[in-house]
Amino acid sequence: MEQKIIQIQNNFLEKIQKAKSLKELDEYFLALFGKTGEITLLPKEFPKLSKEKRKQIGPLFNQTKQKLEKAIQLQRNKVREESYKKLETEKFTLQPQESQGKKRQGHLHPVTKLENEIVELFTKLGFKQYNAPHIDTEGYNFELLNIPQGHPARDLWDTLYIDTSNVKTTPGELLLKTHTSNAQIRIMREFKPPIRMMSIDRCFRYENVDARHEHTLDQFEIVYIDKGVNMANLQYLSEYFFKGILGKDIKARLRPKYYPFVEPGAGVDGLCIFCKGKGCKVCGGVGWLELAGAGMIHPTVLKNGGIDPSIYSGIAWGAGPERMAMLKYGVKDIRSFKNGDLKFLEKF
Ligand code: DAH
Repeated sequence: MEQKIIQIQNNFLEKIQKAKSLKELDEYFLALFGKTGEITLLPKEFPKLSKEKRKQIGPLFNQTKQKLEKAIQLQRNKVREESYKKLETEKFTLQPQESQGKKRQGHLHPVTKLENEIVELFTKLGFKQYNAPHIDTEGYNFELLNIPQGHPARDLWDTLYIDTSNVKTTPGELLLKTHTSNAQIRIMREFKPPIRMMSIDRCFRYENVDARHEHTLDQFEIVYIDKGVNMANLQYLSEYFFKGILGKDIKARLRPKYYPFVEPGAGVDGLCIFCKGKGCKVCGGVGWLELAGAGMIHPTVLKNGGIDPSIYSGIAWGAGPERMAMLKYGVKDIRSFKNGDLKFLEKF
């Protein structure tokens, strides 16, 4: 047994000291200390030994074990140092790719491309871009939009609140914006009607993530306020939007839907781009796909924004550019857009 231990020690110490890579060292580590490693298995033979032998072997075994562990650790450090030194003297060039005839060129993210198209479409109609903060107050995100604290409608948005218990002065409860509608009140307070504004930005939800739901999502919002603005304008703009992005033959349909900040509220459907209304798997046989939420801005919200609802009326809507990109490019899983998989992104 003594000899066996010494043999293992000598054999491995030599190999370890010659090792040139971390991979090699990992292999030795496993061969010694893995489940069926030589050091791991040795104590199984101890019961066969006499009591006296065991007293001798015990300390030798422990010493050997420690020596080998230490040797591996030292050599790992050495190998790392060597590779750092190499890095310092090595010259990097970006040429190999090009010399293989392949230029590796970046491009805009597919959702960014689509969003640029949307912005261009609405810029043509005189809409201007507006950005509201990601970290916002309950006031702008909910209360001033006619969603008081404790109102069941808050359940429409699974919200990520920010723990402010350690902050002395805050303007109230803080959260990550759940929708681009948090821009609405700011827009109304900053500009006088006629107002044509749009906001395209990232929003956040405490979401059960799956192929159709992401915790971080983009939204596109418009706010259009003037004298005499009505649902016909909403219908027209919705169709202008869908035709511009998804194709000339895509119609829009307004369906009654509840949102606390609009009255009346609407779900805005686009004709299914795959079956053109006949009914297919993607649209669940309905022929239409919900692409946005919208409506006439609620008089209370207009008042909160400092606008007189007896003179002006407005429409607003919020749409999901990622949902539209999924349809346009035939992407089945919304998570593909943000998981950084180059193989996916290079297809665009
Ligand atoms: N903010 C809503 C959401 O996140 C979408 C929405 C609905 C926006 C109606 C609007 C609107 O401006 O009028 O689901």
